[in-house]
Amino acid sequence: MVIDKLQIFRGEIFHCLADPADVSDDKSYEFFQDGLMIVKSGIVEAIGSAPELLATLPADIHVTQYTNSLIVPGFIDCHLHYPQTEIIAAYGEHLLEWLEMYAFPAENEFSDEKKSREIAEFFFDELIRNGTTTALVFGTVHRQSVDAFFSAAKARCLRMICGKVLMDRNAPDYLRDTPVSSYLDSKELAEKWHGVDRLRYAITPRFAPTSSDEQLAMAGKLLKEQPDLYLHTHLAESKSEVQWVQNLFPDSTSYLDVYDRHGLVTKRSVFAHCIHLSDDDYELMHKRGAGIAFCPTSNLFLGSGLFNLAEAERQKVKVGMATDIGAGTSFSLLQTLSDAYKIQQLRGHQLSPFKSLYLATLGGARTLDLDDLIGNFEPGKEADFVVLDYNATPLLSRRVKRCKTLKERIFVLQMLGDDRVVKHVHILGNEVYCRKGREDG
Ligand code: GUN
Ligand code: ZN
Repeated sequence: MVIDKLQIFRGEIFHCLADPADVSDDKSYEFFQDGLMIVKSGIVEAIGSAPELLATLPADIHVTQYTNSLIVPGFIDCHLHYPQTEIIAAYGEHLLEWLEMYAFPAENEFSDEKKSREIAEFFFDELIRNGTTTALVFGTVHRQSVDAFFSAAKARCLRMICGKVLMDRNAPDYLRDTPVSSYLDSKELAEKWHGVDRLRYAITPRFAPTSSDEQLAMAGKLLKEQPDLYLHTHLAESKSEVQWVQNLFPDSTSYLDVYDRHGLVTKRSVFAHCIHLSDDDYELMHKRGAGIAFCPTSNLFLGSGLFNLAEAERQKVKVGMATDIGAGTSFSLLQTLSDAYKIQQLRGHQLSPFKSLYLATLGGARTLDLDDLIGNFEPGKEADFVVLDYNATPLLSRRVKRCKTLKERIFVLQMLGDDRVVKHVHILGNEVYCRKGREDG
């Protein structure tokens, strides 16, 4: 699918170079009002001001021009569950009851390969429509759920990470595996998919309450044997969950310690939520180089709590954004950033629009240890990008006209934006999605 010839894109271009927490705002990004991106065989060859770069190219070269829009790197979703796509917006429960009532029965359906394939395709359509080009994704306990996911991702040339759920207790019989079967199945799936095209494998214990010590030990054994695999799980999402973990693992010094004792906290470990962490936990995460997936819409929806982004920043723990579908309420990372902003307001912390966009792109890439490949437009990186339409809705169009700065425009896109704003999506330079024109004027 990769095109050999050059592809040239012209328009407003924005990408992040650093975490705004580490440098001044203006050093954290690059912005070209009239920018040009040159893509060769799916990889960014050069980026810069259009007049300057065009002078280096043949005069008759084809240029794809995007007007009234902003070109940004594809969004990165650091945690979600594809088998929960159909139970988004399930009413009335907090985490543990929500799992029992909605998530587990829905996941049971993924023993059926046909169902897995159908939902995987729908899920990727939905990601792309929302401008998400890379994600770290939960399958179910069933191997076929992961095969279906990776087959569909491969066919679309997407950079995706997924894994089979490990769950040997505190779950319905129909969703349980065993320490040995989970080890063997994960190993086999990792051998089959990890490193194939743009795909990678994550060992995926659901969370500490649904894995015995024996199962976590087996997960640790596999990670030790193959340290380039990922570890993907949940951590400290709700208070009752944290209490439950304390009761189940009385010898552990903290929830994170339950995972760390089994060697599960590495630079390729991603922990979803991390709302109710101790200071020591942040410190250990930093020491191990592990990352946090911040899931604002989910945390509000389940009433789980308000993530302490300032503390993660202070303790230099990597953070990426995540929708956590199906507890999250939108596939859109723009909507997710809108809720992130509001959560930080409630905590008395101002989340800047540049930091937000960083979290949804380069910050996500760093959290997934993929920043050598994606996350911004540095030459050599993969050309996954989205074109955001300033005129996507009448209200956005009107509001943007009043914006005086880039920062303000980006903020407005985040607060008012959703899938309607995503006009084009390119994977390795190739357009895979183009939104139909606005019908309401
Ligand atoms: N903790 C354990 N499993 C889940 C899940 O499926 N969703 C969320 N939000 N939290 C979990
Ligand atoms: Zn989750």
